Amino acid sequence: GSTLQAAAAESGRYYGTAIAANKLSDSTYTTIANREFNMITAENEMKMDATEPSQNQFSYSSGDRIVSWARSNGKRVRGHALAWHSQQPGWMQNMSGTALRNAMLNHVTQVATHYKGQIYAWDVVNEAYADGSSGARRDSNLQRTGNDWIEAAFRAARAADPAAKLCYNDYNTDNWSHAKTQGVYTMVRDFKARGVPIDCVGFQAHFNSGNPVPSNYDVTLRNFAALGVDVQITELDIEGSGSSQAQQYAGVHQACLSVARCTGVTVWGVRDTDSWRASGTPLLFDGSGNKKAAYTSTLNAL
Ligand code: XIL
Repeated sequence: GSTLQAAAAESGRYYGTAIAANKLSDSTYTTIANREFNMITAENEMKMDATEPSQNQFSYSSGDRIVSWARSNGKRVRGHALAWHSQQPGWMQNMSGTALRNAMLNHVTQVATHYKGQIYAWDVVNEAYADGSSGARRDSNLQRTGNDWIEAAFRAARAADPAAKLCYNDYNTDNWSHAKTQGVYTMVRDFKARGVPIDCVGFQAHFNSGNPVPSNYDVTLRNFAALGVDVQITELDIEGSGSSQAQQYAGVHQACLSVARCTGVTVWGVRDTDSWRASGTPLLFDGSGNKKAAYTSTLNAL
């Protein structure tokens, strides 16, 4: 294949990017996005603060613009994210207990219903595990409503949109030997054993020198897949430049391609200048839209 989406399709996989609604009028951006990618994630527009700015008053215009652009160009959409401790609307941030639990479930139900039939996979719950060596849940207002909040969110999402795949998504879960990876793995194993509806696990894959691509990434992806879920790289970016960055990009794709149930890869933005990273050059296209060495190594690995 001569594009990322064509190369990924040769093995039945998708290739995605995050899209920002306010950049859809930038033709350099949309030209690259339309040519290279066939799976679209809204970078911010489907998050809790964007979709429910006041309680029970939903705002879908920016998310709808992205879904409409994607679908009119023949692309599928990953929904991101229904329940998360971060980017909550102000009204939710100080809620607790049953009121918060019900507000979260209402949010999941309403948003998944609005986008019903248009979403390939939802990140139902994002980033619920703690960093460090505990392997435990992250403390958050949602976690304090009870340890079963995650499975409650998944059941609500399944009821609202039975055709969407339902994913758990997190970062720093790439290295098999890390406690956080083991914590998420144990949760997914438990969900599968008890029939909680979960179909996939997303690995954000935000890498830098302090958090490099692990050499056992394939082991992690294979072990999760063996639980009976699809796995996906959902927010890939790798700080650095040149051949070192290109090699690390190749390694991520080799790991995914070695696992049958690794169904696709999404990079978290188009050009380096579109990245959420304050500085650095973590993506596949430079600020002018030129293909970088990391692009070529990725294309060759697919
Ligand atoms: C980031 C966006 O890229 C930024 O524009 C925003 O300011 C903050 O969120 N993990 C996630 C993504 O799951 O939603 C985050 O996206 C990056 C980290």
